[in-house]
Amino acid sequence: MSKVRIYALAKELGVETAKMLEILDSLGVQYKSSSSTLDEETVEAIKTILADSSSKAEDAAPEDSSVNASATQEAAPEPVAATPPVASNPTPAPQPSAAQSATAGEERTLAAQPAAVTTTATELPHRAPVVTIMGHVDHGKTSLLDYIRKTKVAAKEAGGITQHVGAFEAKTSRGKVVFIDTPGHEAFTTIRARGANVADIAIIVIAADDSVMPQTREAIAHAKAANVPIIVAINKIDLAQANVDKVKQDIIPLDLVPEEFGGETIVVGVSARSGEGVEDLLEMISLVAEIADLRADPKAALKGVVIESRVDKQMGVLANIIVQEGTVHVGDFLVVGEKYGKIKALTNSVGDRIKDAGPSTPVQILGFSEAPTAGDTVTSAKNEHQARELVAGRTQDRRDVEEARKGRRLSLDDILGA
Ligand code: GTP
Ligand code: MG
Repeated sequence: MSKVRIYALAKELGVETAKMLEILDSLGVQYKSSSSTLDEETVEAIKTILADSSSKAEDAAPEDSSVNASATQEAAPEPVAATPPVASNPTPAPQPSAAQSATAGEERTLAAQPAAVTTTATELPHRAPVVTIMGHVDHGKTSLLDYIRKTKVAAKEAGGITQHVGAFEAKTSRGKVVFIDTPGHEAFTTIRARGANVADIAIIVIAADDSVMPQTREAIAHAKAANVPIIVAINKIDLAQANVDKVKQDIIPLDLVPEEFGGETIVVGVSARSGEGVEDLLEMISLVAEIADLRADPKAALKGVVIESRVDKQMGVLANIIVQEGTVHVGDFLVVGEKYGKIKALTNSVGDRIKDAGPSTPVQILGFSEAPTAGDTVTSAKNEHQARELVAGRTQDRRDVEEARKGRRLSLDDILGA
């Protein structure tokens, strides 16, 4: 995917680079300098924010002559008037011009209808942050979560789903937080990648007596690839051999420069054993979450993701999912990949039977006849007929692709054989 440098995007959108950096800060996007590159998703987010502020400026003062407001107002004969045409744009960014004009095209669509897109987005209710705990084996991820769970989740949870999934909701003084544990063993790369992908925030746990290790690096790479803000938790600070300063030094080459060294990485020292620093960590999570302004529509079409599934000898197939948008209800038909099921029972992360669950809620679902694949997207269908049709369509698509591949292989063999 095409990447764009911060200063180039600022120029393209007609805002000052400083303003662009402010927006990036507000999004929790990390950058080194104004020549750092941004991915497509970030670029889209910036455009939405600018369109939003321009529509607000328009509401407040229609005669406002700020660049953004005029971009929407003077749209009449030439909708991209405020965006410098590609040819006359002296931006030194190493982007092919095709990519630039494609971006300009997107800008045109956005500028044409900014209010409709953004007003709805800002009115949506807030949702809890989904926080994934990652790091090297034995650095104390599960212990840290156990400590949080012990202090922040009602005690009656034996039988809840947390033992199996390691996904649970904690109530902090600043609101609900959803935590997902991941294993540190090197074999579980996929689980870590999946954990990073569903996360709003990644906590990288690094043991103070061991510092940066291979899966620390891997976890950081996953979080960065998923464009998720990182908080570093230096754990085991209760140990005599703990060396917090060494950890802070060791993460600098990984592009995580601690705030105290002038960087932007939040680093918190904690002990899962004594609980020291855990409140600070929760505070930092809330802070990053607030800045990210996480919202979701509980009335939207259902979207969720499978965290884990297993077959219980007595209960049958149990799928643990996190609802991301919309709401699941007992009785709903869910479709995951090429499997579907009708929800017979919903259980929350403390083991209570519930009737429905909205965004940022981990739930256990009873009702699939086959275990859905972890990492797959969950959607809903109106009824069994529609669920079956959806699944049949997907199965057919997959077969078509397989057939096409087989066909290609055959003809290649033919050619080689000839
Ligand atoms: P994996 O899931 O296998 O990757 O390990 P983990 O990161 O979840 O580590 P876990 O919580 O299982 O802890 C590993 C060991 O470190 C256990 O023996 C814990 O008791 C110990 N431990 C965890 N946190 C602390 C801490 O803050 N201080 C001390 N002294 N020991 C800790
Ligand atoms: Mg663990």
